[in-house]
Amino acid sequence: MTDIEHMLAGKKVFLIIAGGIAAYKSLDLIRRLQDQGATVRCCLTENGKQFVTPMAVSALSQGPVYTDQFSLKDESEMGHIELSRQSDILVVAPATANILARMAAGIADELATTLILATDKPVLVAPAMNVRMWLHAATQANVATLKSRGIAFVGPEDGAMACNEFGPGRLAEVPEIVKAIVGVVNPRRPLAGRHALVTSGPTVEPIDPVRFIANRSSGKQGHAIAAALAALGARVTLVSGPTGLADPAGVEVVRIETAKQMLAACEAALPADVAVCAAAVADWGVAAVAGQKLKKQVGDPPPTIALTANPDILATLSAPGPHRPRLVVGFAAETETVVAHAKAKRARKGCDWILANDVSAATGTFGGDRNQVTLISATGCDPWPALSKQAVAARLADLIAEALS
Ligand code: PMT
Repeated sequence: MTDIEHMLAGKKVFLIIAGGIAAYKSLDLIRRLQDQGATVRCCLTENGKQFVTPMAVSALSQGPVYTDQFSLKDESEMGHIELSRQSDILVVAPATANILARMAAGIADELATTLILATDKPVLVAPAMNVRMWLHAATQANVATLKSRGIAFVGPEDGAMACNEFGPGRLAEVPEIVKAIVGVVNPRRPLAGRHALVTSGPTVEPIDPVRFIANRSSGKQGHAIAAALAALGARVTLVSGPTGLADPAGVEVVRIETAKQMLAACEAALPADVAVCAAAVADWGVAAVAGQKLKKQVGDPPPTIALTANPDILATLSAPGPHRPRLVVGFAAETETVVAHAKAKRARKGCDWILANDVSAATGTFGGDRNQVTLISATGCDPWPALSKQAVAARLADLIAEALS
């Protein structure tokens, strides 16, 4: 923690403790925040009170603990809403599936959720729950909604859980939560004034009005990169193929379908200081797109579809010229001899950096939440550990900020 020593001096953290088994860790969180100079005020949800006592939280935070939406005493001391607004940040740790759902729906059914709805300060959420609850489509939809509204997340992490299951759902380690709080209240903006162009998702190539050729990209990696660059202060244009993802907060999103449309949107977005091509662009489109739905007649052989080469967006952006971004970053999606193929791709396409990732089915890279990349530049290869796609994005954004400084 030495790198962020005293980074919370004078800061007021309002900690909301929801009802999960990880609530006991919030006691350590209070102490670690105080070590960093923060004043911590706490609110326990009704369920939170089942896991840690107001007495313990009050003793550690050295102040009152807010629990009751309609407490006359608390109201006479300081209005609840005022309290949340006088803090520098609201932190929900642990955040259960239940409180995430209430936050996403805008429900104010107790003090904690009322404060979250009423605050004008940044909100950081540290989820902790059973792996199936975390992976449930309802929870994932709520998380996407909250992220699109600018709510910051730290974790959850993979690991063994109290319920004897393994997977994502464990509360982030306390030092990581402290770091995330520091990042939100003291945002670094090294990319302020820079324009970043990011491509994301698949492209789809129509065969006829109802059929198309596409691929398995979900857009998670590209969207995370756009969000990470925006978090460092960049103006970001995200050119995206069809995905089921919410738009990242504070990012301009241009929606396209085909590779040709993606190239046109990228060229229209120039000039840019940096371009990151994370999209899985179709290498080929259909040579003659049928104007009407192709009809199947009984006994007919299947139609033969002639393909034609699509433009290469990464190679086009990398080509020397007055509008070439200072830094052009590509991805290489490979299923074998990953690094060697990626090195050759970097040379062929002329980009500055390429991030090689293995997209064999067993890796779950396409559509999954994690990625293991090797950064290849003119100076060598740097294999990164397997990380969440957000962590890959944050690390890449930091390197981009360094390169452009
Ligand atoms: O979207 P997710 O589910 O999160 O998955 C992430 C990802 C696997 C899609 C991503 O990490 C990734 O690898 N993106 C690049 C996919 C790809 O098309 O790789 P490629 O090796 O075929 O292409 C190399 C590079 O050229 C890429 O930067 C690609 O965007 C670019 N390209 C490719 C073809 C083309 N016609 N134009 C391009 O710009």
